[in-house]
Amino acid sequence: MITVKKIKAEDTYFLRKQILRKNIDLPHQFEGDFSEDTFHLGVFENDELQTIGTFMKVDLKELKGKHYQLRGMATSEKGRGKGFGKLLLKFATNQLEELKIDFLWCNAREIALKFYEKNDFKIMGERFTNKAGPHFKMYKSITK
Ligand SMILES: CC(C)(COP(=O)(O)OP(=O)(O)OC[C@H]1O[C@@H](n2cnc3c(N)ncnc32)[C@H](O)[C@@H]1OP(=O)(O)O)[C@@H](O)C(=O)NCCC(=O)NCCS
Repeated sequence: MITVKKIKAEDTYFLRKQILRKNIDLPHQFEGDFSEDTFHLGVFENDELQTIGTFMKVDLKELKGKHYQLRGMATSEKGRGKGFGKLLLKFATNQLEELKIDFLWCNAREIALKFYEKNDFKIMGERFTNKAGPHFKMYKSITK
């Protein structure tokens, strides 16, 4: 059985460390993990956490209206390609719609660009690089 639900910040740490911080010298805890506006989502397959994503109320000056930032998006290696990432983003979009948020944005790793494009994100600005490799800023309209 596949379920999507809100989870605690601490529940994301195992997959963040395993997938997003492997050989990367950056903290697995994010500033804002425990902010009142932040929520964390998990996709479970038979009670096993497969996909995580964190949503923080962070405005981006290039966009109009109210914004959330997606951080820490990852699916376990064995869970990939099963639609769990897409499911998590769909659930998040519904939550953000209820909060009357206009745009969701993220710093997308170049290796995950196609995933975000398939989920209606668009590139803004130039490619940039940080400790986790090449990235693009991407955004998706929530209110349409
Ligand atoms: C990117 C990631 C989160 C996608 O999760 P997922 O659960 O495998 O994604 P889904 O199964 O929901 O895929 C949705 C669609 O995107 C496509 N897709 C997913 N990852 C892709 C990738 N890396 N490259 C190209 N297409 C990809 C899938 O084929 C699928 O397409 P479809 O709708 O036509 O079938 C996962 O590959 C991952 O954890 N990667 C490593 C960590 C990472 O880079 N995270 C992003 C940080 S910004």
